[in-house]
Amino acid sequence: MIVKPEIMRGGLVKNPHPIGCKAVVEKQINYMKSLPKFSNKKRALIIGGSSGYGLASRIALAYGADADTISVSFEPGVNDKRLGSAGWWNNIWFKEQAEKDGLIAKNIIGDAFSDEVRQQTIDMIKKEFDGKIDILIYSLASPRRTDPKTGITHSSVLKSTVGEIAAPTLDLNKQIIVDGKMMAATKHDIDETIKVMGGEDWQLWIESLKEAGVLADGFKTTAYSYDGADGTDAIYKKGTIGAAKRHLEKTALTLNNELHDLQGEAFVTVAKALVTKASAFIPLFPLYGCALFKVMKELGTHENTIEQIDRFMRDMLYGNKRITDEVGRVRPDNLEMDDNTQILTNAIMSKMTSENFKEISDFAGFYQDFLELNGFNVAGVNYDASIDIDTLKSKQP
Ligand code: NAD
Ligand code: NA
Repeated sequence: MIVKPEIMRGGLVKNPHPIGCKAVVEKQINYMKSLPKFSNKKRALIIGGSSGYGLASRIALAYGADADTISVSFEPGVNDKRLGSAGWWNNIWFKEQAEKDGLIAKNIIGDAFSDEVRQQTIDMIKKEFDGKIDILIYSLASPRRTDPKTGITHSSVLKSTVGEIAAPTLDLNKQIIVDGKMMAATKHDIDETIKVMGGEDWQLWIESLKEAGVLADGFKTTAYSYDGADGTDAIYKKGTIGAAKRHLEKTALTLNNELHDLQGEAFVTVAKALVTKASAFIPLFPLYGCALFKVMKELGTHENTIEQIDRFMRDMLYGNKRITDEVGRVRPDNLEMDDNTQILTNAIMSKMTSENFKEISDFAGFYQDFLELNGFNVAGVNYDASIDIDTLKSKQP
């Protein structure tokens, strides 16, 4: 079978390219291998470790801190209709390489919001990690969450908390700018989004793990967030997702207190805007991203996912160059938030039209990152070669 990027309605790619996904994972691993270690050996749990910031965190910890890792993610495998998801393959390829490199790498595939998966994870920590973890990275992005206490399924929405607002965006499929609007959120919409993307589940994880006695002295945990500036405020800070992130920040303070007796810490990490499965379809975001990438590449401050996470962990998580803001959030997004960078980004955004956006912004770079999410257009991969599905099918995460 030959796999080409087949973009479906809504912009999702039908099949990932399994071999291309392998190349993308290897690229990140090789980047980390080229750098000195940033910490002594760790035992890490990554919730949402199959793609985006979670996968980069897993790779950075494995190769920057010799970390044995457990990752929890929700990814479909190969079936009659689809070749699995990119995250499915990322799990497989990461594990294969990490094991070759002498590290423990375990993948738990299931609903991270469920008590069952939490218990399965605790059992695995006891069995594989001498009963302790040193760090938990919380990197979930999900449209839905079933509350394990009530059994009720909540759905997050992308709506505005300041009334209906314009939110033009880039249609990555048709490659045009399209008008759009963000509808006004009701109180119910805000509550629902907080239920899914706020801090409740992170707190359940940390409290269950602590109760089970599997947190090591000096244990650290962080959850990723985005803050944004003028270019994304309408959908982010002033959106339902922003409300959920404020809840996450409050949770961090609670958890930080609960970890005092372990000399541990909990904080929110505000990371830079990047193309991921979760971010590519947020209104406005692609326009902002294309403009931002242009500016940051010109200024020499652009970082891709692994570069951003490596700097965060090296300087701020384990190093002594931590940048903390007035509400206690750690800020590796400092280069994105730089005043001059924002002024230049806004200037480009205000000029972007369907006719000129490919010239005046870094659409090419943004689109390349989008293709790479599913393993396409990666240097060194032969896309004309047929993929042996039967051999690949036998691989399990
Ligand atoms: P992503 O889509 O690449 O990763 C999401 C992960 O969550 C995947 O591993 C997926 O398998 C997992 N997941 C989703 N639902 C699950 C479930 N029910 N059970 C188990 N696993 C589940 O997204 P991402 O962009 O890396 O986002 C991760 C975090 O980073 C989010 O909190 C996001 O707000 C934050 N962040 C993203 C950006 C950005 O620009 N992409 C910037 C700053 C912060
Ligand atoms: Na992730």
